[in-house]
Amino acid sequence: MMKLSKEFLWGGAIADFQAEGGYQEGGRGLSTHDFESAGSVDHPRCNTVLMPDGSCATAKSHFFGPDSLPEGGQPFVFPDRYYPSHKAVDFYHHYKEDIALMAGMGYNVFRFSICWSRIYPTGEEATPNEAGLRFYEQVLDELEKYGMEPLITIHHDELPAALALRYDGWSSRHTIDCYLRYCRTLFERFGKRCRYWLTFNEINAVRGFAACGTRKADDQTHYNAAHNMFLASAQAVQLGHEMMPGSQFGAMYALSEIYPATCKQEDVFRRMQCRRESWYFADVMARGAYPAYAADLLRRRGVTLHTEPGDDAILKAGALDFVSFSYYRSCTVNAHSKFNVVGGDANPYLPSTPWGWPIDPLGLRYCMNEVYDRYQKPIFIVENGLGAIDKVEADGTIQDDYRIDYLRDHLRAMMEAILIDGVPCLGYTMWGPFDLVSLSTGEMKKRYGVIYVDMDDAGNGTLARHPKKSYYWMKEVIASPGESLWTEKDGH
Ligand code: BG6
Repeated sequence: MMKLSKEFLWGGAIADFQAEGGYQEGGRGLSTHDFESAGSVDHPRCNTVLMPDGSCATAKSHFFGPDSLPEGGQPFVFPDRYYPSHKAVDFYHHYKEDIALMAGMGYNVFRFSICWSRIYPTGEEATPNEAGLRFYEQVLDELEKYGMEPLITIHHDELPAALALRYDGWSSRHTIDCYLRYCRTLFERFGKRCRYWLTFNEINAVRGFAACGTRKADDQTHYNAAHNMFLASAQAVQLGHEMMPGSQFGAMYALSEIYPATCKQEDVFRRMQCRRESWYFADVMARGAYPAYAADLLRRRGVTLHTEPGDDAILKAGALDFVSFSYYRSCTVNAHSKFNVVGGDANPYLPSTPWGWPIDPLGLRYCMNEVYDRYQKPIFIVENGLGAIDKVEADGTIQDDYRIDYLRDHLRAMMEAILIDGVPCLGYTMWGPFDLVSLSTGEMKKRYGVIYVDMDDAGNGTLARHPKKSYYWMKEVIASPGESLWTEKDGH
């Protein structure tokens, strides 16, 4: 029966602001997500939609960010509201326990992001914050203890709030310099201990204050901020290769799959246009140059890109080593539908999660093939999973068979892509191995974990960790590795 090699990396992924907490500990500076209160998030992360006539429109006038950020004003923390990132699930104090539990499942990789404002509280200090570096060094110590590889996300949809407020975040080329100073510090300090790095998370899907530090989220601001992020990523890759021979760099894209709603040629053509909304980002970073269709895409959006002489050479010299992505769901588009990079129309053939995300394991196999065909570089699935409501039984167990079903079907699809289609894949890190705060809704009840964390949407709970049924199931899968997903009647 099919099984994966022993070298395959199995693990989990988290982002600091959704897991760590400790927002005022160890000299940490304020981060852009620190102003988001529970319940205020209206899911406008990707607030620009591609219209059927090929033009673009802004779906929401406000952006994913603080409760209030008037033009020229300061973000505000209201004393009577709950801010999920401030405590999150307290990985800051529970990391030893969390890593031990993950190791107990057989994980050999752990993806986590570094909180930039823990290292440079305002982004502009001349020297880094030693307590922040020390915290991540202790995390690395624990990983080493269990033989787990770190996979570090340098920038997971956030930056020091001071850089956002003083310079409009990624709108400014000054932020590139600050990012590179931060990268140099990470490479110096952790370079000997970490092989795999991600320069940016879901760079195709994020915009606005919390993720990019920009006050506006319109296309002109967004695509220019993205250009600065491309330059930052390319220079980080070059610097990393120089400072850490053998290191491997990727960036991460939200690549949930898109299908044409019918075989009508206009629907199929539009599917291509919609997919290019994401390829635009991966093409520049993985191939090291803007694709030919970029001119049309930017023209339709009314964007003038502010480039400088030398930018093309920078992009070319800093192409990524591997391509990684998140995969949760798929959608359909027709010639008349609106589309943003994480969602189009529903698919009548697919069931959905309680949050309305269509469940499509075959789409993962399709996506893996698509990405490898396009870039011919190894891929890494760095997020996948099911956000669901769990019930704690009277005996304390959590019987999450729905999560086992989701993971089994997606892992089988992944194995078929690797072993039948021949896609080289470095590993798989499921999203949120232990429950954490949802990015899009700020909720705790949208749980991804195979490890339960006792906390509710308002931040109440003991924070105790408990393995769910899926934890023990996953342990068997990893030990086999992958073989336990199949039965005789599957034929392979
Ligand atoms: C990805 C992000 O978009 O999806 C994660 O990189 C996020 O930060 C994950 O948590 C799942 O989304 P959500 O909104 O269910 O938390």
